[in-house]
Amino acid sequence: MKSPGFTCWLTGLSGAGKSTLGIEITQALEQLSLPCEYLDGDVIRTNLSKGLGFSREDRNTNVARVGFVCGLLNKHGINTVVALISPNRDSREQLKLQIPNFIEIFIDTPLEVCITRDVKGLYKKALAGEIPEFTGISSPYEPPLNPDITLKTHKETLNECLEKVLNYLRERGQI
Ligand code: ADX
Repeated sequence: MKSPGFTCWLTGLSGAGKSTLGIEITQALEQLSLPCEYLDGDVIRTNLSKGLGFSREDRNTNVARVGFVCGLLNKHGINTVVALISPNRDSREQLKLQIPNFIEIFIDTPLEVCITRDVKGLYKKALAGEIPEFTGISSPYEPPLNPDITLKTHKETLNECLEKVLNYLRERGQI
């Protein structure tokens, strides 16, 4: 039987840098010939979680669905990299019970930096009251209390962040 894969779960505000780093991690794993599936919140919400909104309940359902898929893939030795805001601590705690090799990576970019970046123009709209329940503005983000890795994309380069993740995976014997 294949050894179970691992899940790198990137949590943080919109615009924190989850997707950018998630893609980098995925590519690095592929270069090591390790099977890996990348699951991005924006993409998941167009298919697996299509129709879900941004209430606490819907976000938790979104997280649980993606966690379920990760568990299935990991069971068959396929690693997963996830980029989801996943703002609710209790829903992330649930994942830890369910996924054997769960690695919580907190993309700790301050709200002010995300607002300045505003890559998708969503913060401007949210601040103008045009998007209800927007994370960090009108909906809470509960930071991890004890993440496996914390990355500060506004202080560390993309390459430094990537190296931290790869070093962690090496130390844990995952890669
Ligand atoms: S989560 O809270 O359920 O984990 P997810 O990562 O899937 O969120 O989706 C977040 C993306 O949806 C954001 O990057 C943004 O592009 C978009 N989005 C649209 N409305 C909201 C909202 N109210 N709050 C946060 N993100 C939103």
